[in-house]
Amino acid sequence: MKPDTHQPLLDSGFWRAVIVMAVISAVLMYIVVVYPIDRAFLPEASVVSVPIDNLFKFSMFFSVPILVYVNGFIIYFALRYRRRPEEPIEAVGSPIHDHPALETTWTIIPGILMIVLAVLSYYIIPMYYPTGQATASAVTMEAIGHKFYFEFRYPGLKQSVMNEMHLPIGVPVTLDITSYEETLDVKTGPVLHSFWVPEFRLKQDMIPGMVVPIHFTAREIGTFRIVCAEFCGLGHSHMWGKVVVQSKTDFDKWYAQQQTEAAAPEAERLITLAGGDASAGQGLFNAKCTACHNAAPFAQTKVGPGLADLFDDPEHPNLVTGKKATPANVADVLEHGAHGSYGVMPNMHANGLTDKDVANLVAYLQTLHK
Ligand code: CUA
Repeated sequence: MKPDTHQPLLDSGFWRAVIVMAVISAVLMYIVVVYPIDRAFLPEASVVSVPIDNLFKFSMFFSVPILVYVNGFIIYFALRYRRRPEEPIEAVGSPIHDHPALETTWTIIPGILMIVLAVLSYYIIPMYYPTGQATASAVTMEAIGHKFYFEFRYPGLKQSVMNEMHLPIGVPVTLDITSYEETLDVKTGPVLHSFWVPEFRLKQDMIPGMVVPIHFTAREIGTFRIVCAEFCGLGHSHMWGKVVVQSKTDFDKWYAQQQTEAAAPEAERLITLAGGDASAGQGLFNAKCTACHNAAPFAQTKVGPGLADLFDDPEHPNLVTGKKATPANVADVLEHGAHGSYGVMPNMHANGLTDKDVANLVAYLQTLHK
């Protein structure tokens, strides 16, 4: 490379810009180090969330100067070496070609950072993806993604628990994660979901035909969101669950209660429909049912048929259960769910409905036909 015989290319303004950027970087890097993610943003509710946050801080710490200098230089050079009004329109900049020492530096430093990041990740990833005997769990349970709810299966519990996962604090858990639908119909078969608990810093795709175990230990008592983080269809935005982390005593109480419920034969009971509130039902319909149903004629299907003419449709006089479309029979579908050619409708527990909700929904559905 020929030595540059022009006037110095980098004047004192350049070095001032470098110093300003150094100060901005230092302040932001300090903030990254001291910012309490767990208190100011999201609790670190699982054991693995602590090293994951530290890894995040590590990459954030070194990203800050890169962000500041790359963008700072772009702005500085664009302003400093812009074409001045007195210069001819065809003016060109200084003939600078390359600078091997500088280029080597800005290749080697990020290269080293990438390797360090990879090594740190190599030690953290097995903390939540179990590898052999290294992660002895007290409990192995299952999480299954459905359209559009989460199903949890516990060892020793006959029935599944829908949308609400209870966990004892401090107990290592392995969660076998998959996606499944009880239908062989391709159109309504299983799809990808994702099990994401932001407070646990864990996210795992729920994949049809594949079981992926993740491993974690809850370290904070509380109720945290489970979010479906994979677009899975029209009901995706309705697919929420919660994980309830409890003390060992409270968890055992909950578990015992679940076992009692499973042991008791399902009593034939009738939901009281009298006094159903149509406007409350409309709110519920919009919140819970519109993921799969339109308040429109039968043919306007989403996942299931449109429900506007549910109670008076000469072409479809019967419900999916084969029974007449009476309020009591509709309530029965809401209570127990349904399987049909369209797919699967979850029961009232999976949908988070109370008896009163069912009555309100039936009242609302009856007002739809005009
Ligand atoms: Cu399930 Cu998105």
